[in-house]
Amino acid sequence: MSIQLDSHTGVAGAVHAQAERDTQDALSLEVTLCGVRFRNPIVLASGILGLSEEIFARLARSGIGGITTKSCSLQPRVGWHNPTIVSWGHGLINAVGLSNPGVEVMVEEIRAARRHLQPLGVPIIASIFATTIYDFGTLARYVSEAEPDLIEVNISCPNLDAQHEEMFSSNAYVSGQVTRAVKRNARCPVVVKLSPNVDNIVTIAREVANNGADAICAINSLGPGMVLDIESAKPVLANRTGGVSGPAIRPIAVRCVYDICRALRGMGVQVIGTGGVTDARDAIEMILAGATCVGVGSAVHARGLGVFAEMTAGIADYMRRHGYRSLDEFRGRAL
Ligand code: SIN
Repeated sequence: MSIQLDSHTGVAGAVHAQAERDTQDALSLEVTLCGVRFRNPIVLASGILGLSEEIFARLARSGIGGITTKSCSLQPRVGWHNPTIVSWGHGLINAVGLSNPGVEVMVEEIRAARRHLQPLGVPIIASIFATTIYDFGTLARYVSEAEPDLIEVNISCPNLDAQHEEMFSSNAYVSGQVTRAVKRNARCPVVVKLSPNVDNIVTIAREVANNGADAICAINSLGPGMVLDIESAKPVLANRTGGVSGPAIRPIAVRCVYDICRALRGMGVQVIGTGGVTDARDAIEMILAGATCVGVGSAVHARGLGVFAEMTAGIADYMRRHGYRSLDEFRGRAL
């Protein structure tokens, strides 16, 4: 599947015009996540786009608030064979297998991304993935050399080889230990990305918070699921199963964000709400459920980078209609 970039012409102009109108209205979409300022709450979710000079330039023009890199591991990972991402009608199913060039290359890519995006006030969240608690700590130390604004700890990929690797986020104690190892080695705030595929996401969230997580990203994709091609009678993914994302999982994501924000109120842990967010309405829903930032993934596949400017314009419009001047005035209102 090819990703549509800048599908909406005049995106840059629209973003600037909108920003000017918002300044006149004294309306601000700015948020602070773990002490890091974002010009707006919309963040690219991990694993959606590769990092290249061309993509940095387009992201910078897209009006995005922040970006999350693809999860990197200590050593390069080839990942699963193609097809790895398939649209099934109500979202995507993916089993990429955490393919990445390894932390050494990723450190250079994050440095390049910083040169492009930080002057524009677009923070970078470096996502990391390891198969042992010790390696998570080592990775946090290495990736800190690139000076990302935050580190996202991916303990929730549903596409692991069950014989060799396990999803840490299904075990509260292990999730806490991973968080502790990363916190000991990271030189910036730490976000832990949780899975919806657990009995009680709040138990896991509380454990990572008690072990030092500064923020939680909820949720990773649902599943694994399976889609069959009825002509060949075979699964559409080479890995057979994969994580389910897109609009169909949004109500589950909203419920997870809501439950975590309600349960952890007073602990000073912020949330990035991710899962099926497609437009401004969906982003506002996440903020009402308590999210500080909103992650966008599958929608970029479907609609290109124009989706970011459309979302921020839609949020600003909602704020005007309701007389809000900042996101603080309605964040968590549903709680
Ligand atoms: C993958 O690379 O297979 C998906 C990554 C994730 O869901 O964390």
